[in-house]
Amino acid sequence: MSGNEILFEQIRSSGCLSYLIGCAQEKVCVVIDPEIDKTDDYASLVDFLGAKLLYVVDTHTHADHNSACKLMRERYGVKVVMHRATDAPYVDVRVEDGDEIRFGQQALKVIYTPGHTQDAMCLLWGDRIFTGDTLLIGGCGRTDLPGGSAEQQWDSLRRLEALGNDLRVYPGHDYREAVSSLGDEKQKNPRLTIQSRDEFIHFMTSRHPPLPRKIQEALEWNRTPIYRQRGQGEGI
Ligand SMILES: [Fe+2]
Repeated sequence: MSGNEILFEQIRSSGCLSYLIGCAQEKVCVVIDPEIDKTDDYASLVDFLGAKLLYVVDTHTHADHNSACKLMRERYGVKVVMHRATDAPYVDVRVEDGDEIRFGQQALKVIYTPGHTQDAMCLLWGDRIFTGDTLLIGGCGRTDLPGGSAEQQWDSLRRLEALGNDLRVYPGHDYREAVSSLGDEKQKNPRLTIQSRDEFIHFMTSRHPPLPRKIQEALEWNRTPIYRQRGQGEGI
């Protein structure tokens, strides 16, 4: 996968990171973890690139921000992709471990990584991996929110650890940096350097960070079809 075969943009919104990726030859693209405030920006970027948007993918049900998936589905007719464990009712393509999301001559490979949520997945793309909130740079997603499991997070991080050191890690948040390598994370990430499963589970279950500020609004938006928001006067 060379630089002139692909389209790649990392887009920031507050602490969230989303990604517009595509096949340069066939000018088709995908947005990963779109955030609602950036909906117009994704559309403008797709236009600027002269591309067609095929899919929007959420790596998991977000509890800290409103996903743009259902809005983009409604506005642009794109298909929403999530892991089949999700309870979001507006998903068109429910994927599972090992599936491929194909766009032009490119494909994202699904790695199911529950732990942060039950529907969390990572997406492998050539020498890059989109880790959502499963693996953050210098950390990992919390496991104390709905659907979280420290035990599963431990197992999921072991799956990621088995991948190559040269993989470039693109997380769902930029609390520290916006890109890293898997090799660096294996060496430096305090969540990955914990050697014992029991110690990891104890660490994850004994800390109680504040709840995300918009958790109720985000979970309500991300778990309901668009017509409910319309009825409530909040929709598009
Ligand atoms: Fe999350």
